[in-house]
Amino acid sequence: MIKHQYDVLIVGAGGAGLRAALEIPEGFSCAVLSKVSPTRSHTGAAQGGVGAALGNEEEDSWEWHMFDTVKGSDYLGDQDAIEIMTKDAIRAVIELEHMGMPFSRTPEGKIAQRRFGGHTRPENPNDPDSKRVAVKRSCYSADRTGHVMLHTLYENCLKQKVQFFSEYFVTDLIMSAGQRLDSSRSSGQGNVCVGLVALDIATSEVHVFHAKAVMLATGGYGRIFRITSNAHVGTGDGFAFVYNNGLPLEDMEFVQFHPTGLWKLGILISEAARGEGGILLNNKGERFMERYAPTVKDLAPRDMVSRAILTEIREGRGFKGSDGTYYVQLDVTHLPKEVIDDKLPEITGFARTYLGVEPTKEPIPVQPTAHYAMGGIPTTVDGEVIKDKKSTKVPGLYAAGEAACVSVHGGNRLGTNSLLDIIVFGRRGGKAIAKFIKDTDFAPLPNDAAERTVSTIDRIMNSKGKEKVGALRMELQEKMMEKVGIFRNEKDLKEMTSEIKSLRERYQEVSIDDKGKVFNTDLMEAIELGNLIDTAEPIIYGALVRQESRGAHSREDFPNRDDKNWLKHTLIYKTDGAPKVDYKPVSITRFQPKERKY
Ligand code: FUM
Repeated sequence: MIKHQYDVLIVGAGGAGLRAALEIPEGFSCAVLSKVSPTRSHTGAAQGGVGAALGNEEEDSWEWHMFDTVKGSDYLGDQDAIEIMTKDAIRAVIELEHMGMPFSRTPEGKIAQRRFGGHTRPENPNDPDSKRVAVKRSCYSADRTGHVMLHTLYENCLKQKVQFFSEYFVTDLIMSAGQRLDSSRSSGQGNVCVGLVALDIATSEVHVFHAKAVMLATGGYGRIFRITSNAHVGTGDGFAFVYNNGLPLEDMEFVQFHPTGLWKLGILISEAARGEGGILLNNKGERFMERYAPTVKDLAPRDMVSRAILTEIREGRGFKGSDGTYYVQLDVTHLPKEVIDDKLPEITGFARTYLGVEPTKEPIPVQPTAHYAMGGIPTTVDGEVIKDKKSTKVPGLYAAGEAACVSVHGGNRLGTNSLLDIIVFGRRGGKAIAKFIKDTDFAPLPNDAAERTVSTIDRIMNSKGKEKVGALRMELQEKMMEKVGIFRNEKDLKEMTSEIKSLRERYQEVSIDDKGKVFNTDLMEAIELGNLIDTAEPIIYGALVRQESRGAHSREDFPNRDDKNWLKHTLIYKTDGAPKVDYKPVSITRFQPKERKY
């Protein structure tokens, strides 16, 4: 067993983790652990932009951004946190520019901005109650905004001598002063986070990292679903660590399906395509979003557009593909060539490469794709992980980015608010950690810190069980897609609660073919499968208990939003039996809930 000690450990080298690392002051040690090479983190896949009311192209204000975010969240977002994010957005984007991020430019040399779903301004800026129209608020670098943001942050971390453990797969948190996980992944109850356990993927050696503070910036769980825009790394690891340690997960039922994934593959085709003027068409050639969102049309929020696409398909207006699955079309053929070449080079390249479609001449086949976790590890606005509805903090444990639920996205996130979330709350989390480590000593490490990881590895490596990782994962992904996707109902969700129990039992019988120690990706995928299954449980359970439709959670048997009973956050805890549910109030400061129309 190899041991290390750092003041701060950050799990995940995406934008949130890297932005947090930049806040750790000189004189304190900080290491970032990433299961892939840092610049392959999933932030690099974000395309269309980062939201901030710079007003470079037309009049804008952070208050309008705040209103749109609250409304987009279907009033479940915490308004105190949303105010912090939208107000700080302007500073945060300028800061990135000063760090060297190469934004696209207006002819006058300002940061260029484009329209995005759900981002609006009053048509008459002097009359806040006038009709709202789409506004150019997304600050972008062509359609590679996440990629250039990730590289900028990484270069700044290198300059600041942040240490990286690349291709280290974190397997567990170390919680002290309480019972921790056992090998059957039952819930533990540690009170204080004192480090983590990781596997060096190159050698399969287990490392124990002792720390004063740990931040989980582990991204999302898209790989729970068969069609997803998420990279292979999106296996819900951080959610599973927290859930398995007896801590709650918040609002997990809110899963965002991005309307335009490349048909069959799920690869993201940025909303920027519609922001630049692209339109969605059904098999009758109709621009169907005119019927669902008459004011903003194709630039309605994602939950609405995804539901509209599925409704078109269900009602027979989709296109049937060669494999029997359905899609609608995203048409950008009418856009000027220079818009496609300069502003959308990546996604039009994807259409050519993966589907053989020439987007300047023919529409792109698209379908909704699992994209983003609105829920996650509950935190304060300073990234401190909390463990109950009273917001009791877990000393030493922080979370930021998609893994965290602050909650700024509520029931549905607006496009461009995820890159914003990571730079605003990554920084705030980093600052909170910087303060915490100055006043804190290392708490002792328990002797059995790595026990669960070691026994899990032994079980998988020595298993002769008949279950195979790929087949079990595929079954999980297919069933989650079918029963816990865009439209949900009690029957499917109840069936899925039994399915997940059975998948968890069968997971104990998983065996792998590679018995070696060098780059054993079979082993890694087997451990990741455990995380996928553990993370799916609170999604299913949250969806079952929430008897209303709000944001991305759409119950066919409860089609309306029900503010009287459900304007509250769910907190789901793992137990030995059915998960336990508790509730947390929503912070409502400026905007009272209203019917959500676009
Ligand atoms: O459509 C997109 O470019 C995705 C952006 C986002 O998820 O924020």
